[in-house]
Amino acid sequence: MKISVIGTGYVGLVAGACLADMGNNVICVDSNTEKIDQLKNGIIPIYEPGLEELIKANSRENRLIFSDDIHYAVQNSDICFIAVGTPQGEDGSADLQYVLEAAKSIAKSMNGYKIIVNKSTVPVGTAEKVKELISQNTNYPFDVVSNPEFLKQGNAVDDFLRPDRVIIGSDSEKATRNFSTIILVFFFFFIGINHTFYIFRKIFFVPIRVR
Ligand SMILES: NC(=O)c1ccc[n+]([C@@H]2O[C@H](COP(=O)([O-])OP(=O)(O)OC[C@H]3O[C@@H](n4cnc5c(N)ncnc54)[C@H](O)[C@@H]3O)[C@@H](O)[C@H]2O)c1
Repeated sequence: MKISVIGTGYVGLVAGACLADMGNNVICVDSNTEKIDQLKNGIIPIYEPGLEELIKANSRENRLIFSDDIHYAVQNSDICFIAVGTPQGEDGSADLQYVLEAAKSIAKSMNGYKIIVNKSTVPVGTAEKVKELISQNTNYPFDVVSNPEFLKQGNAVDDFLRPDRVIIGSDSEKATRNFSTIILVFFFFFIGINHTFYIFRKIFFVPIRVR
């Protein structure tokens, strides 16, 4: 699959490197051009066991590239992950400005059907907000999928590749099925999930115990 990851911080960089290592073609995007320049020059801004090796190996194979051009990244991907920060606002709630900004930029860059996957930690109802904002800024079809990340710093690569839970949710059956298939096939056949897989459509939860 052709994938873009918007936001190359802790979550985005680990997700991008691991998704590339699964055989996908990944473009990691960040609005911080200094960070992107460093990554292009092989300088990894965070330390996580195994991450540098993954980035170097997949960059060498051209499966992982870094860019500050979100337009190029969206136009050259079928699935766009949002992995930008959601810092706590003054009242303790997640500040969604970066998520909404990324969603708007994706919408304005679309050139066909896209699955837009939110990995950032956001409150319930954010997918609806993202969907509404995207529809206001594009006429192309799209689906929004929630797939929150639970990795822990210090064990991020292993947590991403061998998660103890995976949660996928969308109001689109097609997007849920397609996205779940990509993820499920990988975990079943290549890695093996440690514990539980949840797929939900609207309010229906379907827990699948794998081990
Ligand atoms: N760090 C963790 O351990 C962890 C674990 C699980 C979930 N999360 C969640 O994942 C999300 C991302 O966290 P993080 O720690 O990776 O954040 P981060 O601050 O390390 O990285 C976010 C990146 O997004 C970039 N960015 C912001 N707006 C952008 C835009 N419009 N276009 C392109 N790039 C943009 C920033 O420059 C930054 O590099 C948050 O919601 C966080 O709560 C984090």
